[in-house]
Amino acid sequence: MKVTNICCIGAGYVGGPTMAVIAQKNPHIKVTVVDVNEARIAAWNHDDLEQLPIYEPGLDAVVAEARNRNLFFSTDVDGAIDAADMVFISVNTPTKTYGKGKGMAADLKYIELCARQIARVSKTDKIIVEKSTLPVRTAQAIKSILHNTGNGVKFQILSNPEFLAEGTAVQDLMAPDRVLIGGEQTEEGFKAIQALVDVYSTWVPDENILTTNLWSSELSKLTANAFLAQRVSSINALSELCEVTGANVGEVANAIGKDSRIGPKFLKASVGFGGSCFQKDILNLVYISKSYGLNEVADYWEQVIIMNDYQKHRFATKIIQTLYNTISGKKIAFLGWAFKKDTNDTRESAAIYVADQLIDEQATIAVYDPKVTAQQMESDLNYLGTRAEEENERFLMAINDPYEACKDAHAIAVLTEWDEFKTYDWQKIYDNMLKPAFVFDGRGILDHKKLETIGFQVYVIGK
Ligand code: NAD
Ligand code: UDX
Repeated sequence: MKVTNICCIGAGYVGGPTMAVIAQKNPHIKVTVVDVNEARIAAWNHDDLEQLPIYEPGLDAVVAEARNRNLFFSTDVDGAIDAADMVFISVNTPTKTYGKGKGMAADLKYIELCARQIARVSKTDKIIVEKSTLPVRTAQAIKSILHNTGNGVKFQILSNPEFLAEGTAVQDLMAPDRVLIGGEQTEEGFKAIQALVDVYSTWVPDENILTTNLWSSELSKLTANAFLAQRVSSINALSELCEVTGANVGEVANAIGKDSRIGPKFLKASVGFGGSCFQKDILNLVYISKSYGLNEVADYWEQVIIMNDYQKHRFATKIIQTLYNTISGKKIAFLGWAFKKDTNDTRESAAIYVADQLIDEQATIAVYDPKVTAQQMESDLNYLGTRAEEENERFLMAINDPYEACKDAHAIAVLTEWDEFKTYDWQKIYDNMLKPAFVFDGRGILDHKKLETIGFQVYVIGK
């Protein structure tokens, strides 16, 4: 079967870039990305590519090439489902905030809504592709909803988890380490798998396209994120031991990373991992393990989260202690609010939690981030619900000039590893700060020797 019309439900960080690349590489396939969020769709359709709802290096060029050729963004969800022979589900699957599994399980209500909508609208056979990250065996639930519609339409369900990382999404999509496709191990299932393999094989080498059964594919996604996050928590755990022993975590990471069995990636000590995926997916893994009675397995993975929370808390505590245990009324400048560089995404960013702890002590936080809006920062802090919104407004200021943000500050904390921070005139920044002037480098990116020569007192995680 040859796919000629794709619909993707969910025009977010995954649906948007993924479909843009699929459309660019397959000019013969019409790709329609739909969403219930009208503002988001309008932004995807904006003439000015700077207004795209997601900032990703290289994304504007891909969208410019494919949009209105064979790539379309629309709010007509029913129409796009009806016309498609392959439907990707790429909606959000956040951690549940209510009921059973609150704070742990993935909230699958948006997935179920999609399945019901597909069931209601479809008049022709379709391949349904799980692009969202889902608990293992979700395909079973989707299948049960789709197969009980009574309209005779046949569905095949595939799992095709997305491994892109934000900030490098286009690069990751253009040259993925692997594309994973899971499907039913039946004749019809193999045909559906092959149809999706054909979509990717227009640009991904065959040896990088892996096919498995549904459950292996679903579980591989949670596992990959758990392993990656576990490396960050492992090096962060060691960063504290380095600080008390005189070892340098950068040197330790470099030394162990040379071992080909360990490898050099994901060993950068930090103020803690953020992002919409790591915490959510590990919590989900813990919940699934517990639901099968596998308590030791659950405890093992939960420790990755405990360590990450501790690292954020430890960084904030270090700032408070260093500033003589009193930061009330002091201005502390944050460089960075996004959860990593080259993205405007702030979900679960360490900056939010560090700011929250410092505001508890009544510090004033002046934030500069090249891509995050003031409104986003306020809403991130308000979402925690720690204090009244008016109070957050009083203590948190977004400043769109880094030198202005650092002016008259007692301390600077680096929360995101944006490259531009390295190129600032640090002498000028120093001259305009209160003394002693402190820098807390939560990302280990600055030239610390140089800063010390200027006169800064510098704290670096893991040194
Ligand atoms: P997102 O919140 O950016 O986008 C999801 C979109 O789906 C939203 O715009 C929302 O309005 C839309 N939506 C929800 N229900 C809908 C419905 N019934 N009909 C139409 N639209 C609907 O989320 P995201 O970051 O793109 O993540 C999507 C999925 O991909 C999640 O399961 C996530 O775990 C997974 N994932 C994310 C990343 C990442 O880096 N963000 C990477 C890999 C996998
Ligand atoms: C992650 C996975 O990498 C990706 O494969 C999956 O599809 C989605 O989840 P993402 O969250 O976008 O991607 O970014 P990632 O580069 O993994 O970084 C996650 C967090 O870990 C960031 O806050 C980052 O700063 C932090 N990190 C990463 C470290 O602190 N140290 C490292 O060595 C690597």
